[in-house]
Amino acid sequence: MRIRNVKNAKEIIEDSNYIIDNYRDYRGRFKDVFHNNKPIYLEIGMGKGDFLIGMAKKYLDINFIGVEKYDSIVAKALLKLKDCNIPNLKIIVIDALELDEVFDKEISRLYLNFSDPWPKKRHAKRRLTSPIFLKIYEKIFAKEIVIEQKTDNIHLLESSIINFSENGYIIKEISLDWDSNLNGGVETEYERKFKEMGVAVNYLRVEKKMNK
Ligand SMILES: C[S@@+](CC[C@H](N)C(=O)[O-])C[C@H]1O[C@@H](n2cnc3c(N)ncnc32)[C@H](O)[C@@H]1O
Repeated sequence: MRIRNVKNAKEIIEDSNYIIDNYRDYRGRFKDVFHNNKPIYLEIGMGKGDFLIGMAKKYLDINFIGVEKYDSIVAKALLKLKDCNIPNLKIIVIDALELDEVFDKEISRLYLNFSDPWPKKRHAKRRLTSPIFLKIYEKIFAKEIVIEQKTDNIHLLESSIINFSENGYIIKEISLDWDSNLNGGVETEYERKFKEMGVAVNYLRVEKKMNK
């Protein structure tokens, strides 16, 4: 994603009620952030937030947390939220590599939407479905891991399938021509752009039961 600097990004983030800045204080008790016991779904790499905002408005019985590593991108999402009151939506500005220090067995579903594909072999470990990240996800989920991935990139899809299969995940659903609008979902910014260009969207849903 091309990142245009937002000058006052830090200020926008500091002023927003959607941001959890003291996220380390909530490890293992993120339900307290929302003051309820509803399941918590996470999106890593939320970008400018179209998917997360749409899902939170649509599914009021789920709490959504978006994770994004760049201030300027988060600031753009927050500007969209300026006049909205969405109680089941929060955002954390962090690199996903640190997620196991933030959450402890409390996530129920993870969305990976149009994640950076890192096509070069030497960068494969940066992909959000590399074994390094799969280890992190094992620590943040409650009992069962459920991950949904959407991507335009067939090589990323292929790499994800291999990593999931080698790490005990069951592929529950796969499509090479996914339409979020027909499947109860919400389109992401990238998804909309790819659709407009006639590029097919690939979708994968995997699950893994854990003995905890
Ligand atoms: C290609 S964009 C897709 C944005 C959005 N999900 C969509 O579909 O429109 C990928 C996003 O993931 C974020 N990202 C990539 N790696 C990340 C990481 N390790 N931790 C947090 N965010 C990450 C990037 O900053 C970028 O905003």
